[in-house]
Amino acid sequence: MSNMKLNIAGVEFKNPVIAASGTFGFGREYAEYINLNNIGGISVKGLTLEPRQGNPSPRIAETPSGILNSVGLQNPGVHAFVRDEISFLRKFDTKIIVNIAGNTIEEYCEMVSILNDADIDMIELNVSCPNVKKGCLAFGSTPEGVAEITKQVRRECKKPLIVKLTPNVTDIVSIAKAAENEGADAVSLINTLLGMVIDIHTRRPILHNNMGGLSGPAVKPVAVRMVYQVAKSVNIPIIGMGGISNHEDVIEFLLAGATAVMVGTTNFVNPTACTDIVENLESYMRDKHINQLSELIGKVVPY
Ligand code: SIN
Repeated sequence: MSNMKLNIAGVEFKNPVIAASGTFGFGREYAEYINLNNIGGISVKGLTLEPRQGNPSPRIAETPSGILNSVGLQNPGVHAFVRDEISFLRKFDTKIIVNIAGNTIEEYCEMVSILNDADIDMIELNVSCPNVKKGCLAFGSTPEGVAEITKQVRRECKKPLIVKLTPNVTDIVSIAKAAENEGADAVSLINTLLGMVIDIHTRRPILHNNMGGLSGPAVKPVAVRMVYQVAKSVNIPIIGMGGISNHEDVIEFLLAGATAVMVGTTNFVNPTACTDIVENLESYMRDKHINQLSELIGKVVPY
């Protein structure tokens, strides 16, 4: 029988397919299309200490093989999440990862102290959203910034901690190492690539925020490259993401060195993508006589 189980910092996932933050809400809408029991985990929409309306519209633009978003972390706030959403998510046998974003390190720490007592499995520290003026990228784009926030959050955090990295940097390896050195249990990468689209008729950017984060199949080779580079340099597990839309993409990320993956933009195209991928991974393993999916992790054969 094919075994897709994996363990990250003591959290056992039934399979490596995790719905990516910002593409899956809090699971409610997708529960109408798929059986949430069949996916490894859900990383919920990025939460902030206070509710946020997000950026003005337009904040989504379609691009070749991808989308550009400048949502700006619209969310109901961490208190409303704890009050209204966890009990719904807990009805399903899937891991709950809570993505958090703050303006200051103090805000991140305050959210962590609230979530320490909540019935969730892991925290994903979002230091990589490109669409907000304060926080996030201000911490995530240098090794020093990532080291400082990881250190302070780690001190506060009683849950396993994932640090979600931005690709909008020169050297992602030094940033991943900074997270590892300060106690991150795992890193997830990549968040979106900063981009821009202009309407040539109005001569205005299509997004109200002028710029936004690019995701979807267009970014996949960048993401695979970064996972590969980081995997060679850190010892903590990597959760790979960026443009995954089918089981073959998942295999590619595992070969590059990811232990698990997050599936994002493709959910907007096909709401059953996550469970389709799990089913197709099972068939792939059967066809290729692979007993443990984890056998593939880091098994790329470079030239
Ligand atoms: C957003 O809400 O702007 C996207 C979140 C992210 O990129 O982390």
